[in-house]
Amino acid sequence: MSRKRLIEMMRHCVDHAKAGTQELEPEVFRVPASNYWDEGRWRREIDGIFRRVPLLLATTAELREPGRYKALEVLGVPVLIARARDGELRAFVNLCSHRGAQLMPTGGGKARRFICPYHAWAYDDEGALVGILSASEFGDVDKSCLGLTRLPVAERAGLVWVHLDPAAELDIDVFLGGYDEMLAHFHFEDWHLVSQRSVEGPNWKIAYDGYLDLYHLPILHKETFGPKFPNQAHYYAWGPHQRVSSPHPGLAQMDELSEEEWPDSVLMGGVWTVFPHVSIATFDAGGPGVLLSQLFPGSTPGESVTVQNYLMANEPDEAQRAEAQKQIDLLEYVVREEDYATGLRQQQALRTGTLDEVLFGRNEGGGHRFHRWVERLIEADAGELKGLFEAGEASIRPR
Ligand code: FES
Ligand SMILES: [Fe+2]
Repeated sequence: MSRKRLIEMMRHCVDHAKAGTQELEPEVFRVPASNYWDEGRWRREIDGIFRRVPLLLATTAELREPGRYKALEVLGVPVLIARARDGELRAFVNLCSHRGAQLMPTGGGKARRFICPYHAWAYDDEGALVGILSASEFGDVDKSCLGLTRLPVAERAGLVWVHLDPAAELDIDVFLGGYDEMLAHFHFEDWHLVSQRSVEGPNWKIAYDGYLDLYHLPILHKETFGPKFPNQAHYYAWGPHQRVSSPHPGLAQMDELSEEEWPDSVLMGGVWTVFPHVSIATFDAGGPGVLLSQLFPGSTPGESVTVQNYLMANEPDEAQRAEAQKQIDLLEYVVREEDYATGLRQQQALRTGTLDEVLFGRNEGGGHRFHRWVERLIEADAGELKGLFEAGEASIRPR
């Protein structure tokens, strides 16, 4: 079923590539410019979106064997994700029940137990408190009530989603709406992480707009990879998650093969965004790879941090690694010096308050859909969330 959907998308793209056309939205879309800098608005986005939907915080590649863990801080919440001996992933608040020290330092590694660096209380891989230093002198406490606080976690398509709110109820499968079945065609569960680095950027939505935008490619990226691409894009949506495809003229060659022969690697090409903060862009350098970018809002509306994860389908040998490395360096340069350098100046200019609205053209449908979802979600009360994701596109269709 999902391969059929991939073929339909490719057919649509090939037909448009041959005609040199793209699909257009009915109208130009307007977004208040203050949405990018207003502090109150920004807080509503953090609380209404980032604290209420599952976030893509890790890849299976980072947590493959039992005992592997990853500790990170997301919007001020220290998170610990670990593969337990039963093979299942667990996620916890990375916080010791004794007096609240952070158990594991930021980063990854392998551990059978999590030992607090302050007074050595020990937790097992299910988060149970299993050791209290000098227990008889410490005094009577019920260990069974002092385990780590669990966070809802789910592993789908070789990717790992975690809720920052321990009491979150939104089901991951409702949230993904079948998008994970599409992402499963990458087979990320078998891929390798070859590089991880971070880049500082502007407001998270300025940064995210750029990942949905192919209109700028031949212009802003004219010195790097841009001239190879048309400025057109097609968007395919699963709720707020959008795949972005370029109707590249080279796609006309696809008609030399029958649709059944179209390889998965070509069918999966382009950019797959995962709402609200991830973009997965395909590349081929030293072998098939993707740049998986995780955007995190920073500590003010004008800041964000993007973690660039470069994953490859096969463990690269030395020559492939060197080739991949050149690609990774180029992508970091493009994002840092072209996208985010422009975005940071855009942020500064918007902050003057002298522009009332920003515009998304009829050719920029990805931005229409993204900003409509942001708006809808921050307005929604807790009881409405599930229904919004179940209804998908209908939730944001202009009335
Ligand atoms: S704070 Fe963790 S053992 Fe004391
Ligand atoms: Fe860009």
